[in-house]
Amino acid sequence: MSCLSERMIIRGGRALSGGVVAQGAKNAALPVMASALLLRGRRLTLDRVPDLQDIHTMAGLLRCLGAGVEFENGRMTIDVPEDLRWETPADLVRKMRASSLVLGPLVARCGRAVLPLPGGCAIGSRPIDFHLKALAKMGAEIDLEHGSVHARTNGLKATRIEFDFPSVGATENILMAAAMTPGESVIENAAKEPEIINLAQALRGMGARIEGDGTGTIRVDGTKDLESSSIRIIPDRIEASTYLLAGVMTRGDVTVNGINPEYLEALIVKLEEAGIPVCVFADSVSVSCRDRRWKGVTLKTLPYPGFPTDLQPQIMAALSMADGTSVIQESVFDSRYVHVSEFKRMGCKLDMQGNTVVITGVSQFSGAEVRASDLRAGAALILMGLATDGETIVNSLNHVWRGYESLMMKMTSLGAEMELLPDAEEA
Ligand code: EPZ
Repeated sequence: MSCLSERMIIRGGRALSGGVVAQGAKNAALPVMASALLLRGRRLTLDRVPDLQDIHTMAGLLRCLGAGVEFENGRMTIDVPEDLRWETPADLVRKMRASSLVLGPLVARCGRAVLPLPGGCAIGSRPIDFHLKALAKMGAEIDLEHGSVHARTNGLKATRIEFDFPSVGATENILMAAAMTPGESVIENAAKEPEIINLAQALRGMGARIEGDGTGTIRVDGTKDLESSSIRIIPDRIEASTYLLAGVMTRGDVTVNGINPEYLEALIVKLEEAGIPVCVFADSVSVSCRDRRWKGVTLKTLPYPGFPTDLQPQIMAALSMADGTSVIQESVFDSRYVHVSEFKRMGCKLDMQGNTVVITGVSQFSGAEVRASDLRAGAALILMGLATDGETIVNSLNHVWRGYESLMMKMTSLGAEMELLPDAEEA
C-alpha cells in the first residue's frame, strides 16, 4: 500500500470517456475478513479483495488477535490458530469503525472480547447499541468500562433477534455469532445489502446453514466446528456508481465493467428519472452524456434496496448541475451533510433544513481549494473538480484512499487531468 499524498489538483472540464473495472467491495471484504476469526486452526481464502487502507487496518487487527494474514494481488489468506487473543488494540479500533465487526466472532469463538467503543465520525455518532443488545439477548454479558465494551459468555444461545433498524454492521455481527452457535437463530428486520449476502456465502462455505440472506428475515443454523473455505468478494456498487456519476458530470461516456447491475438499481432509476439514459448489460453499466442536460429529482436515502446513503454526497454533486430544483432527504445517518459547506465553496446552491437539502441547479461550478470530510464526501468533491472548468485542489485525501482503489489510475485512464501535490505543510 503506497503512502499516497493527501492533496491533489484537478484540471477539470474534460469529458471522461472509456471503461473501468469495479474493485472488490470494501464493505463486503471487511466483514468477511472478520468472519475468519470463527475458524479454529483453519484457513479462509478471499479473492477480489481491494487494496485499500481499511483492508490493511483490518488485516492488522486480525494479526494483533493472532491470525496470519497474507495479501497479494487481490488474493488474501487468513490462517487462524487454535487460540486467539480477544482484547482488541485501541489504536486500530479507533481508526476504523468496521473494527467492531470482530466483536461477534470473538464472543462466539472465545467467549470473551474487549473492544474500545468506536468513536463518532464526520457522518454522525454511530453507536453500536443494536450490536450489544442483540449479543446480550444471545447470552453475552456486556459491560462498558473505561470506554471499552467488555463482553463474556459461557456459550451463546441460538435465539430470535429483531432489530429496531436494519443496521448493516449489527446484522453482520449477529450473523457471524449465530453461524458458530448450534441451533436455529432468526434475525428479523435484518439488513438486505448485497454485502450481507456475500458474508452469508462465506459462512455457508464454512459449514453454517443460512437462509433468507438478502431479505429481512435470516435463519441461521450454526455449528461450533466451521471448516476452511474460500470466497470471492462481490464488486463494489458504491465505487462503480461513483465512476458512472463521473461520466455523467463531465458529460462523457463511461462504462463500469465487472459489476452486477442489480446492485445499482436505485441509482439507475433516479438517473433515468432525471433524463439520463443508462445502458445496462449482463455485467456492466454505461452512461453517455455528451451535450446532455438533466433535470432535478427528489430522493430519500434508505437501507438497501433504497437509494444508498453512501452515494448521497455524489448524487448531490450531480444534481447541483441539474436544470431546476432537487431535494435530498438523508434518513440513515443523523448528520451526513458536513460536505455541504465545501460544496458551497465551489458554487453549489444548497439550502439545508434539518435532514433535508434543497438543491438549486447551477450552470457551472467554480474551482476552489476544498477539504474531504469523509470517504464519500471526498469522492464527491473529486467529481465536482472533474466537472469544473479550471483548477480544484482537494485536501485530506486520506479519507478517499480508504475506499477507492487505484483512483488516480482509473480516473486518468478515462481522460481526467489530475495529479498529486505535496502535502500542504511540505509545500
Ligand atoms: C455500514 O456502516 C457501511 N460500512 C457504511 O459505509 C454505510 O454508510 C452504512 O452501513 C449504511 O449503509 C461498512 O459496511 C464497513 P449501520 P454501519 O449500522 O454498519 C445507526 C462507507 O462509506 N446505528 O447500518 O456502521 C447508525 O448510527 C461507510 O463505506 C445505531 O444507532 O451502518 C446509523 O445512523 C460509511 N446503533 C444507522 O444506524 C447501532 O448499533 C445505520 O448504521 C448501529 C447503527
